[in-house]
Amino acid sequence: MRKNIVAGNWKMNNGLSQTQALISDLKKQEQTSDAEVMIAPSYTNLWPAFEALRKDTIEVVAQNMHFAEDGAYTGEVSAGMLKSIGVKTVILGHSERRAYFNETDASLAKKVDAALANNMRVIFCFGEELADRKVGNEETVVENQIKNALFHLEADAFKNIVLAYEPVWAIGTGETASPEQAQDMHAFIRSTLDAKYGAAIAEDVSILYGGSVKPNNAKEIFSKPDVDGGLIGGASLKAEDFFAIVNAF
Ligand code: PGA
Repeated sequence: MRKNIVAGNWKMNNGLSQTQALISDLKKQEQTSDAEVMIAPSYTNLWPAFEALRKDTIEVVAQNMHFAEDGAYTGEVSAGMLKSIGVKTVILGHSERRAYFNETDASLAKKVDAALANNMRVIFCFGEELADRKVGNEETVVENQIKNALFHLEADAFKNIVLAYEPVWAIGTGETASPEQAQDMHAFIRSTLDAKYGAAIAEDVSILYGGSVKPNNAKEIFSKPDVDGGLIGGASLKAEDFFAIVNAF
């Protein structure tokens, strides 16, 4: 059964005291929807966030990880390290990681494998750039991103995969894909999965939309049949806004 999920990607925001303050605000919010709720603080705040939310239903997830289990990779964090503090889910392939840190489909395939080998759940991000959409190439780009990083997996692996379609032109720009654009792409993603793995897997995978989701547009986007929630950047930094989105289902 696919689930509704709303995940807050805090990116490189919030030191320790801001993290504590935001979590205490989050805990005061009332959830009226059935969505799974996640927040992704920076590495330094994963443990304090995890501790503060131990008795809460909000899951603490990581924004990235390395594919190796350990070794000489200065500045990196492994799946095992994340698991050792209780983190069970990791975001991989965010467009900012691809654009600023040279992440490629090939390196992401290795990261996906490492996460799954550690029994972690992956929120796998992908999406076209504006130039791709302008020439009508968005489906080909998305299809290739999914195929190159995920299609070596066995069907069974998809129970631990959540997909996040994030058109690059809509991230942090205030410009959102229209609900129809999101629905069309999500339906295309599901048909791509169906062609490779069959309808049961395609229907089961949660596909999130990301890119300038706000309290005032979440309801319409989430009402689309193939949109199962959102990956939220800017609006996840304010507890009221984030929960307005969580409750938009
Ligand atoms: P945004 O970011 O909501 O600020 O556009 C979304 C994301 O990058 O996941």
